[in-house]
Amino acid sequence: MALHQATASAPVNIACIKYWGKRDTKLILPTNSSLSVTLDQDHLRSTTTSRADPSFERDRLWLNGVEEEIKDGGRTATCIAELKRLRREEVEDKQPNEPKLSTYAVHIASYNNFPTAAGLASSASGFAALVSSLAQLYSLPVSPSTLSLIARQGSGSACRSLYGGFVAWDQGSNPTGIDSLAREVAPQSHWPDIHALICVVSDDKKGTSSTSGMQRTVETSELLQHRINHVVPQRLKAIEEAILKKDFDSFAQITMADSNQFHAVALDTEPPIFYLNDVSRAIIALIVEYNRVSVAAGRGRRAAYTYDAGPNAVIYTLKENVKEIVELVVKYFPQREGSFKDVFELFAGVDVAATEGKVVEG
Ligand code: ADP
Ligand code: DP6
Ligand code: CO
Repeated sequence: MALHQATASAPVNIACIKYWGKRDTKLILPTNSSLSVTLDQDHLRSTTTSRADPSFERDRLWLNGVEEEIKDGGRTATCIAELKRLRREEVEDKQPNEPKLSTYAVHIASYNNFPTAAGLASSASGFAALVSSLAQLYSLPVSPSTLSLIARQGSGSACRSLYGGFVAWDQGSNPTGIDSLAREVAPQSHWPDIHALICVVSDDKKGTSSTSGMQRTVETSELLQHRINHVVPQRLKAIEEAILKKDFDSFAQITMADSNQFHAVALDTEPPIFYLNDVSRAIIALIVEYNRVSVAAGRGRRAAYTYDAGPNAVIYTLKENVKEIVELVVKYFPQREGSFKDVFELFAGVDVAATEGKVVEG
């Protein structure tokens, strides 16, 4: 009997302009647009295998070897249902000889090669890989933008992991969510000199998930309203321009300002949410000092820190500075158990099609 199985991997992306807040929690429609850089898959990726079989009784998911419940009407269930519907409409209805995979249950196994739920965007690579593996399993003739729309309903940030390079997620205005998806701002090849350093401060699971944290912020923070209406739109325009002009000083200034404001908004939440710890703050101080010296020497800012919903730092810099910054970080943060775990050098923005091979352009 035929084996119906497919494996796909997807990279993480780390936002420079942060998504934080939903206007529709079911469809995952954000309260603001965002922009990120997709990292390469060598150090941070999710790899997901899906199998459909008539003997399976129900859809099941294993994450890093441990079964996770697929809740009825939850995000994973929504993604699976959407892809089964596309299988039916795009393949089975048009080619009656194709096996009716949409009627079989699926078993899905996924592994992250980096800390899960620790503020390194595992939900982004996780749902991008899940959607990609099912699209491959079902031989769907769909574009990355269709997959981006579906991945968004798994985890908002996942919609950006379907593209490499510099990626924007436009919030859209349609209540159905049809215009709330990612688009490429520039490919990695536009600015290959940008690198990312990942400083793993802690690989513990965060205390407040992104989903519940941002919901609480929407309900209680006044600062969020200011951010959404008066800060993010201008910043998005400015950072897109900085990327297109390869203006690292502006890119760094905007990225750090937005990380700071996102964490300010978390603090403005009731009860407050603290994602940074003392080591995170010490890394900020180090980068601020590094940039102060650089600006004084007439070279502009040469490094940008950014933190997602967790204590782990991502430092964007140009290739020529990587060695110097790694040495600095290692000098000031000797590896101690429980404080500073590791620093990887990553090449940011590699053009990885999470959907390589099976998925074609729209
Ligand atoms: P992170 O900062 O790592 O994105 P989140 O709080 O946003 O943390 O999301 C973590 C959740 O994402 C996990 O608890 C799990 O439900 C889901 N997730 C993470 N990795 C995967 C994966 N590879 N496949 C499916 N779901 C995943
Ligand atoms: C701080 O995409 O993880 O990383 O949509 O509820 O799954 P859900 O949240 P998620 O939130 C990411 C928040 C962030 C910023 C960003 O990636 O833009
Ligand atoms: Co996440």
